[in-house]
Amino acid sequence: MFRTHTCGELRISDANKQVTLSGWVQRSRKMGGMTFVDLRDRYGITQLVFNEEINAELCERANKLGREFVIQITGTVNERFSKNAGIPTGDIEIIVSELNVLNTAMTPPFTIEDNTDGGDDIRMKYRYLDLRRNSVRSNLELRHKMTIEVRKYLDNLGFIEVETPVLIGSTPEGARDFVVPSRMNPGQFYALPQSPQTLKQLLMVSGFDRYFQIAKCFRDEDLRADRQPEFTQIDCEMSFVEQEDIITTFEGMAKHLFKTLRGVELAEPFQRMAWADAMKYYGSDKPDLRFGMKFVELMDILKGHGFSVFDNAAYIGGICAEGAATYTRKQLDALTDFVKKPQIGAKGLVYARVEADGTVKSSVDKFYTQEVLQQMKEAFGAKPGDLILILSGDDVMKTRKQLCELRLEMGAQLGLRDKNKFVCLWVIDFPMFEWSEEEGRLMAMHHPFTHPKDEDIPLLDTDPAAVRADAYDMVVNGVEVGGGSIRIHDAQLQAKMFEILGFTPEKAEAQFGFLMNAFKYGAPPHGGLAYGLDRWVSLFAGLDSIRDCIAFPKNNSGRDVMLDAPSTIDQTQLDELNLIVDIKEGE
Ligand code: AMO
Repeated sequence: MFRTHTCGELRISDANKQVTLSGWVQRSRKMGGMTFVDLRDRYGITQLVFNEEINAELCERANKLGREFVIQITGTVNERFSKNAGIPTGDIEIIVSELNVLNTAMTPPFTIEDNTDGGDDIRMKYRYLDLRRNSVRSNLELRHKMTIEVRKYLDNLGFIEVETPVLIGSTPEGARDFVVPSRMNPGQFYALPQSPQTLKQLLMVSGFDRYFQIAKCFRDEDLRADRQPEFTQIDCEMSFVEQEDIITTFEGMAKHLFKTLRGVELAEPFQRMAWADAMKYYGSDKPDLRFGMKFVELMDILKGHGFSVFDNAAYIGGICAEGAATYTRKQLDALTDFVKKPQIGAKGLVYARVEADGTVKSSVDKFYTQEVLQQMKEAFGAKPGDLILILSGDDVMKTRKQLCELRLEMGAQLGLRDKNKFVCLWVIDFPMFEWSEEEGRLMAMHHPFTHPKDEDIPLLDTDPAAVRADAYDMVVNGVEVGGGSIRIHDAQLQAKMFEILGFTPEKAEAQFGFLMNAFKYGAPPHGGLAYGLDRWVSLFAGLDSIRDCIAFPKNNSGRDVMLDAPSTIDQTQLDELNLIVDIKEGE
């Protein structure tokens, strides 16, 4: 037996017990005739004591222990007179009587402590060492607990977990696929699923009326803090349901997770907001509602007063930052630089302070009378001490998105994006289609199997761009943590959808024939949703990137620097797969 106890579990009540522990040497220090070693395992740290006077030979061996050596010790639990602050087991130590070195270790490339000296790159390369650190390990523990709670919740409601294949066919209308060449079918490729979407719909046709899967998904898209090329969904589908049933079921799951994993009771139903309102008032389909600063449109008030920037604008709108009138000229210039950054792209920023006496002083005072500025103040409901920030532009959506960035920046600067506060929101009534400049055609905003709102079906023929979908996203603190829709279960309506998306009947048959055919054999009404597991965990753990809750993540260029993947393959492997690599100049 390598151990009788773990390092994290020993307490004063264990005093005088003989115990055996195994773990890694976190650090050791010699003080006079005593050597102290911090022993670490998955559960915590326990201090070991070696006393030269009691056992010189043992102490001599302890002095030779290096960082990260793997050791086993036997000793007696001793109560400490002065508690070792900072570690939960700080009121005990082990007086060691036996030491067994199970393995030596090279000096690690960074310190394996909460405040490590290792930079991002080196920690990614030695991820298996980084995972020994408390912070990273605890994120994985949280992830584990979350999947357990998800399974409990769904099992309780009669959901069945079904695995779907990872080698499937490529389908258009999404992100880019990762593809895998087939040796047995020369010149042909599998694609890795971007989600198990079509497969879960087929399971509904098969009669599995409540399906879920904790599913790996793969998307070849540009990476961001909340995007990995391979990520995990809590993927669900239900038959004989309407949108309300799905929202209720998965709002219940969210509440269950908040309660069991964060100790937060969310009694009230989650807010719901139509997509059009989210865009109008927050410039985003995932508004962060932890704070206000709702947009106010100012076209009626500020247009036509001789300020040409506003006079020529298609949109003028602003936000009111409470109590921020104290912003200095320097801070306001920095905000102007912020909105002018190429990634944001605004041309400039207009600001107005509400003075203590209620008058408004703006950066464009010469164009506006105090009366007009007061009307603007009223529109925001602004009070003395508030700061109004205004953007304008010739493209409504683009300007709203810029204002959204400014709002989020102000929220951060004013400390309003508290990681311990959670505001959940359903964004509903998404448009069915969005115009793609690149493709020059309408694309499905969610996916092509999404059901249009019944009342909007007649618009499919007359004004498809105005059709809304039975689609919904869940947003928590400005993060899209899930999304889903009611699906089309009628082959005719599905065919019409493909037509609007620009598929010829032949192309639709080639790409989605398997699904459309299945729907001819009695498809039940169905719908579902997928939660992003990585995003939920990082939200609960207060992380800035989902990378930190993934055991072996990819870096921003999609590389696994630890495994050095992707990599070239042998010529024999290429030959077997009938592949010729022809890298174009400059790639
Ligand atoms: P969707 O594409 O909205 O829907 O994905 C569902 C949820 O998965 C998470 N997510 C991601 N997480 C990390 N990295 C990524 N690259 C990434 N992409 C998505 C998000 C998102 O809300 N089949 C549909 C679901 C359905 O209709 O049932 C789907 O995949 O949290």
